[in-house]
Amino acid sequence: MKKILITGGAGFVGSHLCERLLNEGNDIICLDNYFTGSKQNVVHLLDNPYFELVRHDITHPYFAEVDEIYNLACPASPVHYQYNPIKTIKTSVLGAVNMLGLAKRVNAKILQASTSEVYGDPKVHPQKEDYWGNVNPIGIRSCYDEGKRCAETLFMDYHIQNEVAIKIIRIFNTYGPNMNPSDGRVVSNFIMQALRGEDITIFGDGLQTRSFQYVDDLVEGMIRMMNSEPEFLGPVNLGNPNEFTMLELAETVIKLTGSSSKLIFMPLPKDDPKQRQPDISLAKDKLNGWQPNIQLETGLIKTIDYFKTKL
Ligand SMILES: NC(=O)c1ccc[n+]([C@@H]2O[C@H](COP(=O)([O-])OP(=O)(O)OC[C@H]3O[C@@H](n4cnc5c(N)ncnc54)[C@H](O)[C@@H]3O)[C@@H](O)[C@H]2O)c1
Repeated sequence: MKKILITGGAGFVGSHLCERLLNEGNDIICLDNYFTGSKQNVVHLLDNPYFELVRHDITHPYFAEVDEIYNLACPASPVHYQYNPIKTIKTSVLGAVNMLGLAKRVNAKILQASTSEVYGDPKVHPQKEDYWGNVNPIGIRSCYDEGKRCAETLFMDYHIQNEVAIKIIRIFNTYGPNMNPSDGRVVSNFIMQALRGEDITIFGDGLQTRSFQYVDDLVEGMIRMMNSEPEFLGPVNLGNPNEFTMLELAETVIKLTGSSSKLIFMPLPKDDPKQRQPDISLAKDKLNGWQPNIQLETGLIKTIDYFKTKL
């Protein structure tokens, strides 16, 4: 039985990871300050004696004897990470320092949930891990993008300087049950608007593309990365390379919800990337052929069912 710490464990991705690792027979500490996550996401796990829920903010040090750490704590949606940008960057940077310090002290392996945002508004498509990105250091997304970039640097430096066993994944857009319905992300926005019969808001002309990964595919990739050969540190992209325009996504959501919502168009937010698509050949090669298996419609149906319970 491994002792595993999951920071941000009560959030969207973290709650799925907690459940999966608990079901596989591990001893889980789920740590969260509930900024964007919720006890509701993990309440069904509380009866299990091998699941511990801890209220803690990772900008402060935390000590526990663990074998592995998944560092997910950080608001992930623009509305939430822009709400208090200084806190966001502190969570990424001070949180990384605190968790890396813990990993060093107890000799734990540590995985960082980084993001495709490190590529910024990319000039290369699809993005491979060796692309350094095109990031505005002083824009409204910078607290998140640069915070995550700095965290990657810290992870590498703790590995080089202190031999901490690290793993870095770069997550591309992910969706599924337990997403916060009010987090302003495109999938949750479209589904909630469709279920309420409100107009669906499309920013720009709707022709910008995104790729969407269902959360179970991501969790599988995260665990494979944690268990990958020790020399493989990443960063490795985890995302679904199938691209859809925002218009296609909106039309699919309308079809699956049977909604009568109409589309309305609003100006594009500042620094919004026009296109982002992962190259996942490294993940396929290093993570035993990992690739997303869940099709957009299948994943959307499960997500819509979840959001119906939130209405
Ligand atoms: N979901 C995606 O599409 C996506 C894409 C790229 C990267 N990521 C990364 O994956 C991780 C999880 O994202 P998510 O979508 O589940 O977001 P989320 O907001 O649902 O989860 C983040 C969790 O971290 C907690 N948290 C925030 N600040 C904290 C702090 N200072 N101390 C302790 N806990 C704190 C929140 O309360 C929440 O439970 C994040 O690090 C995010 O940057 C997610």
